[in-house]
Amino acid sequence: MIHSLKTVVNPRVNKDSKARIAELFGDEEIGKAVRFHRSFPQYEPTPLVSLSQLAQRLGIKGVYVKDESFRFGLGSFKVLGGSYAIGRLIAERAAVDSGSMTFEELKSDAAREKAGEMVFATATDGNHGRGVAWTASQLGHRSVVYMPKGSSLTRLQHIRDAGAEASITDWNYDDSVRIAASEAEKYGWEVIQDTSWEGYVEVPLHIMQGYATMAQEALSQLQESEAAGPTHVFVQAGVGALAGAVVGYLNAEMEKSPTVVIVEPNKADCLYRTCKADDGQLHRVEGDMDTIMAGLACGEPNPLGWEVLREYADVFASVPDGVAALGMRVLGNPLQGDPRVISGESGAVTAGLLSMVMEDENYARIREEIGLNADSVVLLFNTEGDTDPYMYRKVVWDGYGKVPKSDGRGEQQG
Ligand SMILES: Cc1ncc(COP(=O)(O)O)c(C=O)c1O
Repeated sequence: MIHSLKTVVNPRVNKDSKARIAELFGDEEIGKAVRFHRSFPQYEPTPLVSLSQLAQRLGIKGVYVKDESFRFGLGSFKVLGGSYAIGRLIAERAAVDSGSMTFEELKSDAAREKAGEMVFATATDGNHGRGVAWTASQLGHRSVVYMPKGSSLTRLQHIRDAGAEASITDWNYDDSVRIAASEAEKYGWEVIQDTSWEGYVEVPLHIMQGYATMAQEALSQLQESEAAGPTHVFVQAGVGALAGAVVGYLNAEMEKSPTVVIVEPNKADCLYRTCKADDGQLHRVEGDMDTIMAGLACGEPNPLGWEVLREYADVFASVPDGVAALGMRVLGNPLQGDPRVISGESGAVTAGLLSMVMEDENYARIREEIGLNADSVVLLFNTEGDTDPYMYRKVVWDGYGKVPKSDGRGEQQG
């Protein structure tokens, strides 16, 4: 199969009515998640890095990277979602007010006594499970984590080190999710899954609201730095929960909506396919989805994420692995004067795409679709650090992951 860099412009964009996203992702609701995260002893806002030399080279006004490799010492943004959802469930059982709940309160003997010992189950390709395992053990509870076949052994070890009973299954990501849910039902565990399905919406909504802490920090850091914009936001997607949360928050809180680009691997481009088909159905990708972007190897869109993206995302891109590899090298080897950002496969793909479309004249069409020019201020999210150090070195040191060559028509084959 030929893999290529493909984009589709969303024909359904409609950014006029903000009532629904303001209700779910506006400051009032997201403030609860932000307050909860701030109550963790490990809490610190992650850095918002300005890559001004890179921006100059690419011919745009600014490039900002929210660097989640620093989040709670766990290497990715994911813990924001799992921790908030777990917090809400414990609060409910322990009769603690979820609008003001704190880490200390949920960890207290009183809360533990009321809630009893809880077990949180999930499926993960690494980062989400690590966040769930860490939060459960920080708050004195248990966790059971299922990983898809082919998962990185280092990531499995990280999850075990964080306190979970974790194993690698024989199934792909979406089937591992089904196993986690059925085992949880059998044993009476709570499912903490970062995607929703019929009858399972509250936990995934809280997970998305937890992710929005990252967007809230980024926007206030941009405002503090008096930087303009952002005019553009690039967000990577697996099931699209992260993207839905970020795009929901920014649209709810920014006066002028930014142009949004959603980026997925070719091998797991379920949102791209859903946008392209434009038939009112969610489109899935099946099979192994063997991409180096393990965090984005999800074949079934999150319905709530899609609900936001359907109206607020402007362009969907489906890209080969080489784009992520390029992003890892660009961020890890900065131009003189720019800080270094250590970014893993799923974290770097947006930086790779931005660099490619700005540097290669054959992508002028995509550049125009996205509306990138000298006035553009682009916000990116480095959603993970080198969470698989072996793969990181394979890409950044050994040069694994060729940048696909353009065929001259603004579409690439590689
Ligand atoms: C590092 C990283 N980035 C991005 C994502 C994508 O998040 P979502 O599945 O909500 O689209 C994930 C998901 O696991 C991830 O681990």
